[in-house]
Amino acid sequence: MNAVLPLPPAANVLSLTEIQRLAGPDMQAVDSLIRRRLASDVVLINQIAEHIVSAGGKRLRPMLVLLAARALGYTGQDHVQLAAIIEFIHTSTLLHDDVVDESQLRRGRKTANALWGNAASVLVGDFLYSRSFQLMVELDSMRVMRILADTTNAIAEGEVLQLLHVHNPDTDEAAYLRVIERKTAVLFAAATRLGAVLAGAPPEQEEAMARFGMALGNAFQIADDVLDYTADVDTLGKNLGDDLAEGKATLPLIHALSHSEGESRERMARALVEGDSSALPEIVAAIRRCGSLDYSRDAALRYASDALQALQGLPETPQTAALRGLALYAVQRDF
Ligand code: IPE
Ligand code: IPE
Ligand code: MG
Ligand code: MG
Repeated sequence: MNAVLPLPPAANVLSLTEIQRLAGPDMQAVDSLIRRRLASDVVLINQIAEHIVSAGGKRLRPMLVLLAARALGYTGQDHVQLAAIIEFIHTSTLLHDDVVDESQLRRGRKTANALWGNAASVLVGDFLYSRSFQLMVELDSMRVMRILADTTNAIAEGEVLQLLHVHNPDTDEAAYLRVIERKTAVLFAAATRLGAVLAGAPPEQEEAMARFGMALGNAFQIADDVLDYTADVDTLGKNLGDDLAEGKATLPLIHALSHSEGESRERMARALVEGDSSALPEIVAAIRRCGSLDYSRDAALRYASDALQALQGLPETPQTAALRGLALYAVQRDF
């Protein structure tokens, strides 16, 4: 995505490279904790978990935990464990999501469901979920457990809500936004809120961090939904057109459907109802013709801008500048 976000003058924003340098040592600690705590004496669990974890991923959510905590002055080490917990939850949702979406490619590799089948993927997803609960309990904080319990429950609701809209060409933007907030944004909001909680920040700072994460998460998912139609497969590491194939009406298609009529709309609607991925080139052309990519990118930019605004009034630290950089990255990324 090439859109440029209007930034307030003199806003302090780090580039992705600078962010990675700043968060590097903590992220290494997160990675080694993830590796240590993946282990099970059940061989298939190790194989599948290792397959998806060693493929990497952007590790955006754990980075948000670390940065939010440090931005608000946290000096302890529990943020590493919380970051690992968030990544375990994320990874388990990916294993489940790829079964539901019948996806074949993830992080540049064949999906676990493509290699080991749906049953194994769902069960190892459950393993990672429950491993995250074990890690949570070790932190011995009722507040942290309540936030994560509410978050995982909302994610499940989001996924089921999405299922209710599948193959429905009348899905509107409001319904779409309700889905993405729950299935994606709440985990981002939990990541930044938990950073604030660890730091013992006052309630208004905790709320600001949570608003930042929520807006960033919405921006991130809209950008993902644009990439599903426009990205380069090798760069993205996922197949294009998965959303259409699964009958998922995302913002670009919702916009194009509501700005088309007659035979053209009819064909788009049918492709969605039938999950007909052979119609992808035609749909992409229609989406471009209707200006739906720009419309969706603008929507993502508005959320990124909300995220930046939420940070106003928080202490100005290198980590705050890094959080701003991640809000930009969420909407400008090409994978
Ligand atoms: C994929 O998330 C699921 C969405 C919410 C779009 P990421 O794009 O963060 O996945 P990884 O962890 O980098 O592979
Ligand atoms: C994100 O939605 C789903 C989760 C929150 C797990 P997508 O279905 O768009 O994610 P990708 O594109 O498969 O990564
Ligand atoms: Mg998917
Ligand atoms: Mg997607």
